[in-house]
Amino acid sequence: MDPRTLKIKAAAEALTYVKDGMRLGIGTGSTAEEFVRLLAEKVAAGLDVIGVPTSERTAALCQELGVKLTTLEETPVLDLTIDGADEIGPELALIKGGGGALLREKIVAAASAQMVVIADESKNVDTLGRFPLPIEVNRFGLAATTIAIEKAASDLDLSGSITLRMTGGEAFVTDGGHLILDASFGRIPDTRALSSALHAIPGVVEHGLFLGLARVAILAGADGIRTRTQ
Ligand code: 5RP
Repeated sequence: MDPRTLKIKAAAEALTYVKDGMRLGIGTGSTAEEFVRLLAEKVAAGLDVIGVPTSERTAALCQELGVKLTTLEETPVLDLTIDGADEIGPELALIKGGGGALLREKIVAAASAQMVVIADESKNVDTLGRFPLPIEVNRFGLAATTIAIEKAASDLDLSGSITLRMTGGEAFVTDGGHLILDASFGRIPDTRALSSALHAIPGVVEHGLFLGLARVAILAGADGIRTRTQ
């Protein structure tokens, strides 16, 4: 089955969690965009929901397709966030940020009563870390922050390349105006320790380890849909 079909299947299953009147967090990435397309069809058919987009890209798609939007300032408590992920590990710990939206994604997920993750089965892993960990950093002190991340990783017996994310020959800039470092540490056995160590570095704005946020993961594979819960 082609990857897009799997994304659509996961997104369609996620729609069953959406109820009339809900305040939604709306994720970023190709899988989340399939969800937005299906959601827009339901909205056109009369479903009344309002969404907080996790990126300018998602906001633009929602506007184009007629999904009503609000902001987290206007609507600071959300019922449900639906979002994709780059990896889904034990206890539904996630790596996110492949699309560069991790900061808003994490803020929105944390403001939601429930987070449902949608992905194809290939994103499900035994240990997080095959996918490079995105770390959103302030532009100021980039070199010092990179050294501090290397040191924090080394203290946890992790090592690997840390590269500045580029796009079109320029540094990728997030919706918040920050930069992204992609850290290829390999397997991350102790995600909580790495999360705490990264949060302790002043130049780190946020990182892509989502721990204790997702309650449900909908995984689409060739054999059908599998739902993991936490
Ligand atoms: C964006 C994300 C995405 O959810 C993640 O990269 C998965 O994207 P896709 O559905 O395109 O594979 O975290 O910051």
